[in-house]
Amino acid sequence: MSFPSINPVNTQAWAMLQAHFDAVKDQSLQTYFAEDDSRAARFSLEWNDFYLDYSKNRVTSKTMHLLQQLAEEVRLKDAIEAQFSGEHINQTEDRAVRHTALRDFENLPKEVKQTLKKMRVFSKNVIDKSWKGYTGKPITDVVNIGIGGSDLGPDMVTEALSYYKNHLRVHYISNVDGDHVQETLKSLNRETTLFIIVSKTFTTQETLTNASTVRNWFLQQGTILDIESHFVAVSTNLKEVQNFGIAPENIFPMWDWVGGRFSLWSAVGLSTCCAVGYSNFEKLLQGAHQMDLHFKNAAFQDNMPVVMALLSIWYNNFYQSESEAIVPYSQYLSKFVPYLQQAIMESNGKQVDRNQNTVNYQTGTIIWGSTGTNAQHAFFQLLHQGTKLIPVDFIAFAKALHKQDHHQDILLANCFAQSEALLNGTIGEQIDSPFRHFSGNRPSNTLLIKQLTPQNLGALIALYEHKLFVQGVVWNIYSYDQWGVELGKKLAKGTLDSLQDKESNKLHPATERLIHKSKY
Ligand code: F6P
Repeated sequence: MSFPSINPVNTQAWAMLQAHFDAVKDQSLQTYFAEDDSRAARFSLEWNDFYLDYSKNRVTSKTMHLLQQLAEEVRLKDAIEAQFSGEHINQTEDRAVRHTALRDFENLPKEVKQTLKKMRVFSKNVIDKSWKGYTGKPITDVVNIGIGGSDLGPDMVTEALSYYKNHLRVHYISNVDGDHVQETLKSLNRETTLFIIVSKTFTTQETLTNASTVRNWFLQQGTILDIESHFVAVSTNLKEVQNFGIAPENIFPMWDWVGGRFSLWSAVGLSTCCAVGYSNFEKLLQGAHQMDLHFKNAAFQDNMPVVMALLSIWYNNFYQSESEAIVPYSQYLSKFVPYLQQAIMESNGKQVDRNQNTVNYQTGTIIWGSTGTNAQHAFFQLLHQGTKLIPVDFIAFAKALHKQDHHQDILLANCFAQSEALLNGTIGEQIDSPFRHFSGNRPSNTLLIKQLTPQNLGALIALYEHKLFVQGVVWNIYSYDQWGVELGKKLAKGTLDSLQDKESNKLHPATERLIHKSKY
């Protein structure tokens, strides 16, 4: 079986969707609800601890049926099969895409099993204080140095699982802006800090620059021989890690079949593992695996990632919505949106299809958002009364972790009320001023999850991973490469040489002027 490469616009379903869109585009959600008492139940899905209410979308049964037909026609089933069976579906880099294999405990590849064991032993030693720093003191602080997928995933998960955290303080240094590393180092003690350098390639400028700065800082008091008690690395590039001075036994491997933005499930999650303990880390993986099974096996109409992906395509390609907002009503998920921005936009920000043609339809949606209720006092005005159609994903947990029922009731009340207000607007009310008028008819999903456990977090992340994959399949693009980012890496080289007064190739006149202006 081969990975399909079908232009979605040429399918029968697309033409039917276009005709259907022309017929229903002006229908309102208010009418849909008025005409159908069972709409909320009909357009909902339940899976384990997850409940997805997608009734507040501008869709009918026919829309959903045609979207599912589109998925059939682009051979989504074969694409899913190809990914899970290890086919090299990342064809532009000739790689398999196997992050799901990292969490399939019944079929773990040998090297993954060994690495998980190494992570378990290492994190246990650090947590139970048997791992000592160079002066014999236990570790109090763990610092992850990485960027992109080597930072956003573990940082987001560690933050999301704060409730389950132990005594270790965990920090993340990513930006090459020296203020980031200096501010972090300010609070750290060399004798009790452990650095995890995470870089799949071990060639990333930001990470290597930060790692060198940190190593120099450490060597102001420690010696070269002490490095082994304070530096470990996660990488595929064992040679470069050793050149940096890290002992082979302190290297945690990763593999080219795991993309950076899908790597939090690998040893890239070592900082999380230290923060919450191995058993919680394993639960995260188990939860993601449960979602993998659901995604692989459920019929499209019952399949949460598929349904969410198709709804998103409906808005992106037919309503021509430019963006989607994601609003988790949980402060623990405050880093979820930045994490998803990389996962989704680095994956689906592509304009050449899998047949090497420039697409003549929209691909990657712009993802943005932040936590509720804060967001209500920031950008919700635009969601309610602005001129743009922006579908929203509300994410909420039914039960709070802390026993603060009063807060939880207010939080959920706000979350549910906002999606209702977006849907209903002020319809049926006597409004004396146009400024107070809300049209409503603004779509949203509500994802209600029982509680923020490691398993449910794993499943939630996997849900969005699969959603973005489905969209890439339908749009006929390669979701697992990132050539656009590679270009930026090269461009900075000449600019840096010029800034440092070294000989460089001729620069763009505008860049040259900026460099000139920056030297004062
Ligand atoms: O941003 C581009 C990118 O290649 C990401 O895909 C990756 O997560 C990040 O850089 C970091 O790369 P590395 O882990 O190799 O340092």
